[in-house]
Amino acid sequence: MDTSATFYTLDGTERGDTWADFYLPKPDAALQPSGKLIAWDPVVQRARWSVRMKFPFNGGTLVTAGNLVFQGTAEGYFTARRASDGVLLWNRSVISATQAPAVTYAYQGKQYVLLPVGASGAVRDYIPQYGAPPSAQGPSRLLAFALDCAVSLPSELLQKPPLPKPPVQFADERTIAKGRKLYLQSACVTCHGIGLNVAAGSSAPDLRYVPAEIHAEWDHIVLDGMLQVAGMPSFKDSLSVADAQAIRSYVVDEAIKLNGNSTSTPSASANTH
Ligand code: HEC
Repeated sequence: MDTSATFYTLDGTERGDTWADFYLPKPDAALQPSGKLIAWDPVVQRARWSVRMKFPFNGGTLVTAGNLVFQGTAEGYFTARRASDGVLLWNRSVISATQAPAVTYAYQGKQYVLLPVGASGAVRDYIPQYGAPPSAQGPSRLLAFALDCAVSLPSELLQKPPLPKPPVQFADERTIAKGRKLYLQSACVTCHGIGLNVAAGSSAPDLRYVPAEIHAEWDHIVLDGMLQVAGMPSFKDSLSVADAQAIRSYVVDEAIKLNGNSTSTPSASANTH
């Protein structure tokens, strides 16, 4: 695969090898973006009220004839505001970050409000600092609310499995760097996350936790499509065996770093496994 592309920021001042270089957390806290809920008056063309949100990716809104605006937040709360002035009337922890809007319907004379909560979409894997805080990393659920119902929600957060002993590194620094670049430039990053740090409960696994049996099947999985039915595509058309193994060496490198053990000895070959 061609890894020679150069990426620039929009104003051309910064350059890097991959687009992801520009999305990784920057040390400057002032760059942490926030969000806003805006009640826009289309007749007078201005905001009637607005509420600042800590994170930029929050849920869509449901507005009812009863003067309510429902919204789930990236921080894992489901809120109801007075539509006319934005005053917070009700606030409920739902444990998980929310991006979808709520819907409402009546069934046998009772009104329900449904809210899908979950992993905060791809944002949490792509740009974790924009997505959801660790405190909102609960499971994906469909929640139903109604008046006079008192069911308590399970409150556990999702946890990653125990980290297996990382494999011994088999490649040199150059190969690992090439693997990182390939990981970011092929689609791996879109499902397995920036820096491999995919949130627990996402649909694709954190590759740093992959056990030895999976490392042994790497080429079958990545190139031959062994797990295709489970949503892991085949990259036979875009990656060579050497490319796939370079990516694996990057994964091994990150697993070793996570384990706090970088004492293994590299060898020159990227193709042995
Ligand atoms: C469209 C999303 C998507 C992309 C892109 C993707 N993967 Fe995956 N990958 C998955 C899913 C989903 C699974 C879990 C499959 C399963 O449950 O068995 C997975 C599983 C894997 C596994 C097995 C892990 C395990 O514990 O079973 C490996 C290894 C892997 N992916 C490597 C890669 C590499 C390398 C790339 C880039 C070349 C890549 N993936 C790109 C979605 C993706």
